Parts: sequence; structure tokens; C-alpha cells
Amino acid sequence: MAWPVLASASLVVINFKDAEGCDCPNTAVKVNWLEGTPKTSTGTTFGLPWARGKHLANATSFTSSSGELQSWITAFWPDGTIKWTGHAIAASESTTDGYTITASGPGNGTTPHFKRQYSNSSTIQTTESSDEVSVNTGKITASFAKSGSTVVSSIKTSNGKTVGQNGRLVLKSQSGIADEGDASGIEYFNFVSKIYNATVSEESKIRALVTVQGVHHAEAGSHKDWLPFTLRFYLYANSDAIRTVHTIIYDGDAKSDFISGLGIRFDVPLAGEELFDRHVRIAGTDGGILHEAVQGITGLRRDPGEAVRTAQYNGEKTPANSTWDTKTSTRLQWVPTWNDYRLTQLSADGFNLKKRTKEGQSWLKIPGGTRAGGLAYLGGATVGGLAVGLRDFWKKYPTSLDISNAASDEGSITIWLYSPSAEPMDLRPYHDGLGEDTYEKQLDALQITYEDYEERYNTPYGIARTNEVFIYAFDSTPTAETLSTLTDHTNEPPVLFAEPEYIKETRALGSYWNVKGAPSNSSTDTASIESHLDFLIEFYRNQIEQRRWYGFWDHGDIMHGYDTDRHQWKYDIGGYAWDNSELSPDLFFWNQFLRTGRADVYRLAEAQVRHGGEVDSYHLGNFTGLGTRHGVQHWGDSSKQGRISTPVYRKPFYYLSGGDERTGDLVHEALKAEQAWVLVDARRKVRDPGVVYKPDPTALYLNFGTDWAGVAAAQLLEWERRGPRWEEARDKLLETAKTFPKLKFGFVTGEALYNSEDGSWAPPPTDPNNNGTITVSHLSSVFGVLETLDQLFEHYPEISKAFVDAWLDYCYYYGASKAEQAARYGTDFGKLNLRQGHSRLTAYVANKRNNATLVQRAWDEFLSDSNADELSPEDPWTTVKFNGSKVLTPVDEADWITTNAAALYGLAGIELIALT
Ligand SMILES: *[C@@H]1O[C@H](CO)[C@@H](O)[C@H](O)[C@H]1NC(C)=O
Ligand SMILES: *[C@@H]1O[C@H](CO)[C@@H](O)[C@H](O)[C@H]1NC(C)=O
Ligand SMILES: *[C@@H]1O[C@H](CO)[C@@H](O)[C@H](O)[C@H]1NC(C)=O
Ligand SMILES: *[C@@H]1O[C@H](CO)[C@@H](O)[C@H](O)[C@H]1NC(C)=O
Ligand SMILES: *[C@@H]1O[C@H](CO)[C@@H](O)[C@H](O)[C@H]1NC(C)=O
Ligand SMILES: *[C@@H]1O[C@H](CO)[C@@H](O)[C@H](O)[C@H]1NC(C)=O
Ligand SMILES: *[C@@H]1O[C@H](CO)[C@@H](O)[C@H](O)[C@H]1NC(C)=O
Repeated sequence: MAWPVLASASLVVINFKDAEGCDCPNTAVKVNWLEGTPKTSTGTTFGLPWARGKHLANATSFTSSSGELQSWITAFWPDGTIKWTGHAIAASESTTDGYTITASGPGNGTTPHFKRQYSNSSTIQTTESSDEVSVNTGKITASFAKSGSTVVSSIKTSNGKTVGQNGRLVLKSQSGIADEGDASGIEYFNFVSKIYNATVSEESKIRALVTVQGVHHAEAGSHKDWLPFTLRFYLYANSDAIRTVHTIIYDGDAKSDFISGLGIRFDVPLAGEELFDRHVRIAGTDGGILHEAVQGITGLRRDPGEAVRTAQYNGEKTPANSTWDTKTSTRLQWVPTWNDYRLTQLSADGFNLKKRTKEGQSWLKIPGGTRAGGLAYLGGATVGGLAVGLRDFWKKYPTSLDISNAASDEGSITIWLYSPSAEPMDLRPYHDGLGEDTYEKQLDALQITYEDYEERYNTPYGIARTNEVFIYAFDSTPTAETLSTLTDHTNEPPVLFAEPEYIKETRALGSYWNVKGAPSNSSTDTASIESHLDFLIEFYRNQIEQRRWYGFWDHGDIMHGYDTDRHQWKYDIGGYAWDNSELSPDLFFWNQFLRTGRADVYRLAEAQVRHGGEVDSYHLGNFTGLGTRHGVQHWGDSSKQGRISTPVYRKPFYYLSGGDERTGDLVHEALKAEQAWVLVDARRKVRDPGVVYKPDPTALYLNFGTDWAGVAAAQLLEWERRGPRWEEARDKLLETAKTFPKLKFGFVTGEALYNSEDGSWAPPPTDPNNNGTITVSHLSSVFGVLETLDQLFEHYPEISKAFVDAWLDYCYYYGASKAEQAARYGTDFGKLNLRQGHSRLTAYVANKRNNATLVQRAWDEFLSDSNADELSPEDPWTTVKFNGSKVLTPVDEADWITTNAAALYGLAGIELIALT
């Protein structure tokens, strides 16, 4: 049947009789490209939400308006209907503006979902043996080893040319740093990949995913295996590209394990190719490409002929040498050949480039530039070649690219995620402890630098980093234009997403945001708030650039507080430096993306996902599942809590990306906070000395907001995903919902005992009889609690009403008058901060209890908070330029902004607009 043309409406429900006469409700959803129709697409995965009750999991099939589609379920509603799906589309030469994805069903439920017929012409073939996984996309065949040190054994084009082989990881480290130039006693190590296993996704028709796990193993010397890695290779039908997601976990000792080079290397067969038909291409700035041949025949004293020169410049095979001017062709032995090329990007501001004829001879400088695109190609006009590109190359400096042995039969390309030309990576603490050897001293130090220090807690052991690398295969040297396009593709891989209206209607990501410009009942002037939201997004985008918030570990984070005297963010002052998601700027950015569909906001939030979940959180060791409070080093602060690692910050990305597998892993890790709490007592420094507390898995003394909510977000995701622990996760959430309201004062209790074996809650040790105790902190509900609970209530409206009421009471009373608090709880809550940030709780209860009087209170809290960490309509809402000798580099300053305030204003603004 013909589909109705979708004009502006994003959601069309059509009832029609299918071939079997079934009266099937269909849902057609338009998906669009984030940054407009891309010049090239090597295959894409994206995610779509579905409203509850619409499409039964086993009775729905999905089709795309153009071409083949591979579909899978990434989340379920509790009634067994589909909540989120992932979809993969093949690579295509002619990308269309967007697609319409149609869900058809429910059918009769006996046709297993997605067991569709694919036309053989355009699907992937995978083969698996005991030692290898092979994937044929139609354009390339890539083989992945299940053991040994070579991860990618070969990449062949459909014409049978092997254009890349021996793809492997490389790591260099050293046992010390020659601070004073004395390098004696320092040991140097070289590591290769050692593979544990390689698996391929079950259904691999349009997209195959090969996952390889392993560790780095010393080639020589006595270093233990370390730096575990996970490599994920995504291959799409009809594509000559491989998207690679590279994750490492740092499990060294910061005092003796200094990484001095981390990379991926591929060999490129070149035998049989004339040296003057071998091409080197390296991406520069603004789409620029270096054009070089291993043996250049341009610019020589004798001209071989224009056709020859043009062919070489364009990367085409040069005409037969009989057509060359013999003055050149007889003298080629005197023209040097360039074996090695090296680009180094040691800062976000500049790269150097050089080449040499061979080892032992001097390097020759090639004029460099500012920010390299991060892609290198090596190959020949007839033998073909390989390009490898690292996403965010300059943003994650120090990086480099090596092309080696280009004049031999087998050259190689190395992408350095950490450049061996840089100083070794130093993860030691930045100060020596300053004598803070008791809790008393540590708390006193907190009073001055705002840093919460404790020895042994300032460890990078267990932090991770994920990078994206694209590998492109060619039968012959591609045009520079193609490589330029692929450089853009590497840095901004095309993203497909559904329209905000549609996502909103499904209620799969909460009820607390609406689409920008949607009709509103509010009498408030939302236009000025919208302009302030835009201002804040623009401000942070500019600050990232002006303040150079870039680097291997830093890219994706923003800073926390501002030093108005120095006109400088407090990068060096304790708890004011890196923000580590404090008060949820992540949620502000994601919600702003959801309601606008703006590409710049998406890219901001995406980088944050890749930072916070990796660098600010732990993946190994005692702290697994917890994150680190804001500080000078992302891992330095001694406060390790679930409020930083909470997956509610990563959830929009996880589902919109079609279930990004790395992010999926992070969600599973967040569940492990339950074990970490036995080892790490979050309140060890501030506990009432009268309370003897011994962490016990069945009675963990937790704050509902800064601790439990992070695990709750992970449990909800696990339930939705039907992950390996989903029934346990669901049961724990429901047990929490049943037992939490039994605390006499519900959420106002603040801290109570959580049983991590069944999810139940009991009164705190300070109030064993449950007489009612009040611990209200301004911090409890500013780390995604409202958002997590709302998503839970939307997911399962059948949840204990008493639980919902307990939450709505908290929302009501936090900002209520002292008299109202005292009337309800016996005493008032004392002085509380973050009134503006909490206006969204008031708006939430106003909305859920349909109370117009409360709407007024919410707006009053939002617009006229006079505490610190708020932004008001009276603030300047402009920046001031500083330059000249006042500052290191010219900057736009807004000294009235703290990131706490920006995050809360942004989030509360969005939620008030939606809820009132
Ligand atoms: C779908 O069908 C399979 C096989 O019959 C069954 O195991 C699974 O539970 C069903 N899933 C849902 C969500 O109904
Ligand atoms: C369900 O539908 C499939 C495909 O239309 C059909 O082959 C099958 O017989 C149906 N089963 C029942 C129980 O109606
Ligand atoms: C691969 O090896 C790692 C490390 O031993 C292990 O944790 C993981 O479960 C293995 N994966 C598979 C699919 O066997
Ligand atoms: C031309 O190329 C052939 C092989 O490609 C080589 O044998 C011959 O020496 C070359 N002629 C000149 C003049 O260099
Ligand atoms: C992990 O926790 C255990 C138990 O508290 C402790 O003995 C051990 O020292 C901790 N390990 C590290 C590396 O801190
Ligand atoms: C709590 O209530 C019990 C019995 O209701 C009473 O005996 C006890 O004194 C109360 N404790 C506090 C701290 O008020
Ligand atoms: C609505 O909110 C007002 C202001 O806080 C309160 O006095 C009133 O009791 C609330 N009404 C209902 C029905 O909850």
C-alpha cells in the first residue's frame, strides 16, 4: 500500500487492513538528519521511542521508506509493548533528506518479530570459525581474530585487494618521569594487544557489531598485563567503512605507570606499486588535505609532462613511463623517497608535520597548521589503500598520526590517541596532601579550597576513556575531496533522530519537558526565559573554545566556578574546577536538545556523555559504579557518589543512539554502586559521632538523592532494557516504592537504611522506632531525582500511590513556608538553598496535583530567588570582553554565572515551561 505523505506532522496513526486482513494500527515516524543531509553516510544506527500499549514486542515489524532496515528492541514498557527500538540503515551513495519508519502491528503475536526477509543483494554476510570472525559488507570483508595480538587480521575490498592488515593496539609506558632530567632507573615498556575474545552480534544483516575484549601485554620486560580494552567494530551493509569504538580502563599505579603512547596501527600492503604512484594524504584544517607521493615527480628541474604531474597530484595512476619525458624517467633513482610522515597535535591550537626518507636521516619540516582533521591515508593508485581517522582529534590532544615505511612493501598507519611525542601522561595527585591526615583537617581544608581531600581516594585507578576511530578502505587512492568529506564524517558522524513532538508524545523520556514554542497555559513571559536558555548554551559553547576545555581526559567537561579577580575559571582551586556534572548540566543540555532538536546542543551533550560516564566514574576497583565530586582532577576528590555516575545523564543518548553499547555497559556498572557502598561510606566524615555505623549490604545508610537515585536510574534502565538483571532491578524498585513511604516522613527523612539485597528501606539508625526524622538537604534532589522518579512513574503508573505521594509531599514542602513545614512535620526545615533549582519540584507537584496556586509559587521561586547559585531576570545576560594585558587570551566573561546556577536555571526553566 502507498503511505500517506508526511508533511509537518510527525506522528500519523493509520489503520489499515494488511495482506492477511489484520486490522493493524501502524505508526509512521519521520526521522531527520541532525545536521542536514550528509554528503556521505557509511551506515547509521538510531533509536526511536514508542508510546505505551501501541506495539507488542513479538507482533510488530518495522519498515523504512527507503531501503532495508534492521530493527531491534532496546526497551519495553511493563505491559510488554515496545518502548524503544534501535534501527540500522545501510550505507548509501545517495542519502535522502530523512526517512519514515513505520511500525506495523500488533499482528497475531506468533510471528516472531523482525525475522524478516532481506534481499540478499544488500546484506551483510558473517562467518565465524574457532579463531576468527569475518564480516562481508558487500564492499569490504574484515576479519577479526579471537586470540593473539592482531585484532583486525585483514581488510579486503570486494575486488579482492587487501588494503589493511595486522590491525593492532600499541601502548608505550614508563615507570617514572625524568622531572629533573635524570632518567636513570626509569624503565620503558612496549605493549601489544592480547585478545581475550571476539564475538559478533546475532542479527547482522544491515549492521554487524564485532566486539573484541582484551588487555595490553608487554612485548618484553616484566610489566604485568594492564589497561583492559574493549573494541567495538560497527560494519554496515554496502559500506567500505568501519566505525570503531575504543575503550580503555586505567588500572595502573599513577606513581609508576605513565602512559607515553596509546594507539592503533594498521599495515598497508604496497608491494608492486611504483613509488611515484603511492600516495600520502593527511587531513589539515578546514577541509584541507596534504597531497604527497612517496616519490614526488612534481616541481623537479626536469618535467615528466603535465599529464604525469596532474595524475600524481590527483592520486591517479601516472601514464606509462614511455610517455614521460626521458629527462625525468631516466633519473628517478636520484629523487628521494619519503618513508615516514608524522603529524603531532600537542595542543588544541596547533599541529606540526614532518617527513623523512628513512630512520637515521633527519626529519624535514612540512608547514603545519592549527587544528588537524585527524585523518591519514596511505595507499597506491592500483593497490588501493586505507584511511584512518580519529574523531575529535585536536579536541583530545595530545594526539598524532604516523605513516611509516611507505617506501617499503608494507607501510603502516598509526593513529595515536595519546601521542608518543607528548610528555608522558601524568595521573599523580597534583598536591602532596598538604598534611591533611585527619577528617578534621580535611573538613577544615574544604572550608578554604572547597576540596574534599583524602589520601587513597584521589586515584585514577578504574577511570576509563572511549574514543571513536573510523577506518575506510579503498581500491585505489580516493580524491582529496572524498577524504575531506570523510574527515567531516569522522568528526561529526551523521545522526538520525525523530522530531521533538513525536518523542514528547510517546512519554518515553519523562513528562517534564515540552517542545520549544508549544502552546502553553502559562501567563509567564516564557520568551525571555527561552532567550536566556539560548544564551546559556551559547555561553558554554564559547567558553569551551575560549578557555580551551580540551584534552585527552578533559574534553566533554566544563568548569564549575569563576574567579572574578583573575578573569579565569577556577581551574586550580579545589572543588571549583572541573564540574563533573554537578547539579546536572547534562540534563539541562539533553532536555534543551530534546525540545529543540538543535545540532549544536546535541554535540555538546554527546561529548559530556562520553566524558562523565567514563572519566568521572569508576569502572574497576572499590569505587566501581560511583563517580567523583567536582575538583581539580576529574578523579581527585574523595567524595565518591552515585550522584555523579547516575545514568539518567546518559539515558537520552543511550536510547536516541539506538542503544550505544558502550553506554549500555556504563548503565550496568552503575548497578554495582550497591557493592561499592559497602566499601565506601559516603558520610564517613560528617556522621554524628553518636551513631555507630558499619556498612552492611542489607542496611546501607544512604541519602535518597545523592546515593540511591543513581542506582534507581540504573535499575529503571535495566528493567526497561530487560538486561540480565532486569527482574531483580524491577523487584527492587517496586520494593522501594512499597517500603519507602513507610518511613514516617517519607523523602523528608532524607537518609535511611537501604537493603541492597531486596530494595527495601528501613528507618535510619538515628530513629529506629520510625518516629519521624527530618534531614532535608539542598543537594538531595538536584542530581536527577525528579527526572528519574518521573520516568519511573511514566514507565509504571501502577506504582504504589503512597510512594508517588511521598515524593509529591517532598516537592511541596521543600519550598513551602516554615509554618506549613512545621504544621506537617513538627518542625520546619531550617534555611534551605537552591530555591530556584527546586522551583521545578514545586512545578511538578503543581502539575500532578493540578494546583494553580502552586503554579504561582513555582514561578515566584524561579524568578525571585536571592540566594547564591541562581540566575535572575535582572542579571546582565550579556558577556563582557576582556583582552590585552588583563588576561592571557581574549575572553568573553559573565562573572555573574556559576555552572551550578546555569544548570539549575536551565533545567528549572525548561521544566516550569512544560509543567505550568
Ligand atoms: C517473544 O517471543 C519469545 C518466543 O516465543 C518469548 O520468549 C518472549 O518472551 C516474547 N517476548 C515478549 C516481549 O512477549
Ligand atoms: C499468525 O500470522 C502468521 C503470518 O501472517 C500466520 O502464518 C500464522 O498462521 C498466524 N497464526 C495464528 C495463530 O493465527
Ligand atoms: C571476554 O573476556 C572478558 C575478560 O575475561 C570477560 O569478562 C568477558 O565476559 C568475555 N566475553 C565473552 C563474550 O566471552
Ligand atoms: C619503465 O618502467 C618499467 C617497468 O615498469 C621499467 O622496467 C623501466 O626501466 C622503466 N623505464 C625507464 C626509462 O625508467
Ligand atoms: C578496597 O576496600 C577494602 C575494604 O574496605 C580495603 O581493604 C582495600 O584497601 C580497598 N582497596 C583500595 C585499593 O582502596
Ligand atoms: C519514639 O517512639 C517511641 C515509642 O513510640 C518512644 O518510646 C521513643 O522515646 C521515641 N523516641 C524518640 C527519639 O522520640
Ligand atoms: C494548593 O496549593 C496551595 C498553596 O500551597 C495550598 O494552600 C492548597 O492546599 C493546595 N491545594 C490542594 C488541593 O492541594
